[in-house]
Amino acid sequence: MALQVFTAVTGAAWESELVGALDRDDHGVTVVRRCVDVGDLLAAATTGTGQAVLLSADLRRLDGAAVARLTAAGVAVVGLVEPGDTRATERLRQWGVGRVLSADADAETIARALREAVTGERSAGHQIGDPRAALPVLGLPPEESDRPVGRGRVVAVWGPTGAPGRTTVAVGIADEAARLGVSTLLVDADVYGGVVAQVLGLLDESPGVVAAVRQASAGTLDLAALARLAWAVGPQLRVLTGLARADRWPELRPQGVEVVLEQARRLAALTVVDCGFALEEDEELSFDTAAPRRNGATLTVLAAADEVLCVSGADPVALQRTVRALGELRDVLPDVEPAVVVNQVRRGPVPGDPQQEVAAALERFAGRQVRAFLPADRRATDAALAGGRTLGEVAPGSPLRAGLRALAAELAGVPASTGRRGRRRA
Ligand SMILES: Nc1ncnc2c1ncn2[C@@H]1O[C@H](COP(=O)(O)OP(=O)(O)OP(=O)(O)O)[C@@H](O)[C@H]1O
Ligand SMILES: [Mg+2]
Repeated sequence: MALQVFTAVTGAAWESELVGALDRDDHGVTVVRRCVDVGDLLAAATTGTGQAVLLSADLRRLDGAAVARLTAAGVAVVGLVEPGDTRATERLRQWGVGRVLSADADAETIARALREAVTGERSAGHQIGDPRAALPVLGLPPEESDRPVGRGRVVAVWGPTGAPGRTTVAVGIADEAARLGVSTLLVDADVYGGVVAQVLGLLDESPGVVAAVRQASAGTLDLAALARLAWAVGPQLRVLTGLARADRWPELRPQGVEVVLEQARRLAALTVVDCGFALEEDEELSFDTAAPRRNGATLTVLAAADEVLCVSGADPVALQRTVRALGELRDVLPDVEPAVVVNQVRRGPVPGDPQQEVAAALERFAGRQVRAFLPADRRATDAALAGGRTLGEVAPGSPLRAGLRALAAELAGVPASTGRRGRRRA
């Protein structure tokens, strides 16, 4: 089947000639839409009808954020520059456009670049030493296996109000995945004020997620910029710290957050995002569509993530909150299928076997199976909090750590053991 492409090419004179030439002969390319500007192109990209776009460097309003959004939508980008315009070439490269051609290239050359941009995105990306390299497509289910393997996965850690343990789970998963050899980025995107920096004992001088979002909005956030903004806290673990003050939430602009996640996928094999809890939209503001909404960033993360974890507590009040939150999620983002992680499981607050009871309640009232149970383990979490360290550091033998490690391995698609078998496979 012919590759379906969009064009967004300036220079009316030869634009139609080029499109005609691309379409006319058997280049394996069909132009499905000729876009007039960036807005038009981004709108077309959301329809999923095009696998690649051919665009001019001087397209008005084109910036790094737009390129990142196209890539996020699965549209491979090929750039066209005026013959000899090295500055335009450089600019496109900085925005992550890997294939840039001179505008006087012939149709077959352009068609080939478009085809390679699409297949290149699907087959490139593994780094040497990447433990996933030997694994079949990150352990994804078969129907997803045609996704580009070069893109890292994003896991959103969300859940209802009442401090069920989102941050504990997000930090634990990220740390354990990194210990399993997976390059990992932990992002604190809690719009009610982030505590990841504090939990990890980082001096919160780093500009973190706010700076990343600001650069994304300005179109200057590339891979190197994101890497600079994220603390390297271990050989495989980076952290993008959160809002130091909750009242700065308007700075987490949803569009910027989307671009940050897109760059994060290039930076790390696994990105774990600690999300805020609420989803509801502020009714007072809803008639003013231009007004920022506090939960916009949360919704953006949940919609963009490959996997959404809903962290629940294990007592009757927490379970009720989880059921309500899952209902709200279904209302606003019906396509998201969250995986429920029940945390703080212990005997006492529910009668009988706590796992059985909790699983039955969630099945009955939310129609959801439980993906993982994590035990209440105050001794371990207190030791971690007291030292500003992770469970892997201060409580390596604790039951909670074991649960988090198994979950991290599953999410990252690597074997849970670092023993001989795991190593031989990689
Ligand atoms: N499995 C567990 N066993 C014991 N204590 C836990 C467990 N999980 C989390 N905690 C503790 O519960 C408290 C709340 O956890 P955490 O901060 O992770 O929740 P949260 O959902 O991120 O809350 P917030 O709404 O403040 O963001 C912390 O003191 C944490 O150490
Ligand atoms: Mg939290």
